[in-house]
Amino acid sequence: MSAEQLTVAVVGAGGKMGMRVSRNLQKSSHTVFYSENSPAGQDRVRAEGREITATDEAVKGADVVILAVPDTVLGVVSEGVVPQMKSGAILLTLDPAAAYAGLLAQREDVVQAVAHPCHPSVFLERTTKEEWADTFGGEGAPQNVVAAIDEDATEAAKAAAEATIRVIYAPVIDVHWVTVKQLAILEPTLVETVACMIGTLLNEALHETVHTAGVPEEAAKAMLFGHVQIALTNALRGSNPFSEACEIAIQYGKDTIIKDDWKKIFDDSELDSVIAKMLKLDAVKR
Ligand SMILES: NC(=O)c1ccc[n+]([C@@H]2O[C@H](COP(=O)([O-])OP(=O)(O)OC[C@H]3O[C@@H](n4cnc5c(N)ncnc54)[C@H](O)[C@@H]3O)[C@@H](O)[C@H]2O)c1
Repeated sequence: MSAEQLTVAVVGAGGKMGMRVSRNLQKSSHTVFYSENSPAGQDRVRAEGREITATDEAVKGADVVILAVPDTVLGVVSEGVVPQMKSGAILLTLDPAAAYAGLLAQREDVVQAVAHPCHPSVFLERTTKEEWADTFGGEGAPQNVVAAIDEDATEAAKAAAEATIRVIYAPVIDVHWVTVKQLAILEPTLVETVACMIGTLLNEALHETVHTAGVPEEAAKAMLFGHVQIALTNALRGSNPFSEACEIAIQYGKDTIIKDDWKKIFDDSELDSVIAKMLKLDAVKR
C-alpha cells in the first residue's frame, strides 16, 4: 500500500464526523467509498455529490476503513466489517473509548488505529476569516491530532494511517503518537471531564450573574469573554502573573467549588468507570 494513493472506506459517511472526513477525502487523490445505513444520512452524502456503496463492497478492497459510526455501535459494526477487510488493512476509529474498552473486533492481520482531532488551539494565531470561522478544525484552521496504532504495526501501515489522518483532519500541524490508554486519558479525562465541564460551568456562572445577581447580560458577557482569555493565557502559558488579590479569589473558588479528592479522575478505575458509562456498558473488557 502506498501512502500517496490509498483506497479508503468511510462507514457512517452521513454522520457528523463522516461528513467532515468525507469532504476532505473527496478533495484528495485517494480513492474513496462511502457507506451509510440511514436514509437521512444517505441523502446528506448524495447531496454533496458522493455515491453510496454497500458497506461490504466499500470495505473489501480498502487499505484504510474509517469507522465514523456512534461509539455505542462500534463493537457490533466492527464485528461485521473486520472479517471483510483485506489482509494488512487499517481499521481507523475516531475516538479511543471503544478501543480502550476492548469493544473492537480483532484480527491478527488487520491493524487498529485511533485518531482524535485536537481542534484548533485557543492560542492559534488566526490571520484569515476562514481560520476564524473554523472553530472545530478540518476546514480552514490548522490543528494537531493525537493518535494511537498497534505497537507491532509496520512503518508502511503507520505511514498510511498518518497520511489518512492528515487528509481527514486537514490542515494538520502534527500527529502525536501515543498509546490507546494515553489517548483515553486525554479524552475523556483531560478534555471532556475537565475542560468541557469547566466550559459548561462558565456558562452556568454567566447565567447566575445575569439572572440571579441581575448584572446586565452584555456587561457580564463582555467581562467574562475577555477574562476567560486572560485566565487561560496566564494559567496555561504564564503570560502574566495573577495579582495577589486575584490569587486569594482563585483559592476561595477552589476551596468552595472543587472537591478535595478531584484528582481521583486520573485513577484507572475511574477511567474504566466513566468510559463504561459513556459506552452504556456494565464494565469495560480489559
Ligand atoms: N461529533 C464530534 O464532534 C466528534 C468529534 C471527534 C470524534 N468523534 C467520533 O466520531 C465517531 C462518529 O461520531 P458522530 O458524532 O459523527 O456520530 P453521528 O451519530 O453523527 O453519525 C454516525 C453515522 O453513522 C451511521 N451509521 C450507524 N451505524 C451504521 C452502519 N452499521 N453502517 C453505516 N452507517 C452507520 C449513522 O446513520 C450516522 O449517520 C465516534 O467515534 C465519535 O466519538 C465525534
